[in-house]
Amino acid sequence: MNDRSISRLITHALAARRLAYAPYSNYQVGAALLLKSGKIVQGCNVENASYGLTICAERSAVVSAVSAGYREFVAIAVATRDGGSPCGACRQVLSEFGPNLIVIMCDESGGRTISSIAELLPLGFASSSLTQS
Ligand code: THU
Repeated sequence: MNDRSISRLITHALAARRLAYAPYSNYQVGAALLLKSGKIVQGCNVENASYGLTICAERSAVVSAVSAGYREFVAIAVATRDGGSPCGACRQVLSEFGPNLIVIMCDESGGRTISSIAELLPLGFASSSLTQS
């Protein structure tokens, strides 16, 4: 990915973050998923009074993309106030769609860290374990 496409994805993640529904934690998260086609699908965290039902921004973006018929992902940008990294559950869900996904973690003042899902989730559970008889 070049600098321009990284910046574009971050802009979308920051915009998605403004839509976050986080009245309990006050920790807003936005995600922007870059599809192979070049299209971008956004997601944000959606909290609930029953705390455990909260949906993270990354999984919100993945569910939205898959529900719209897309499964080939190039990168995801995740925007938080402090550049926080995806939780373990989101890492597992992101890894479902391939080990090459680029993960860009960014904060609200432009700071960024770039990694890959394979680096963030070594030895994750894979579908190959389910295909053996
Ligand atoms: N959150 C995300 O959206 N993504 C993560 O990877 C970590 C945490 C949200 C869930 C909750 O709404 C808030 O951040 C605080 O945990």
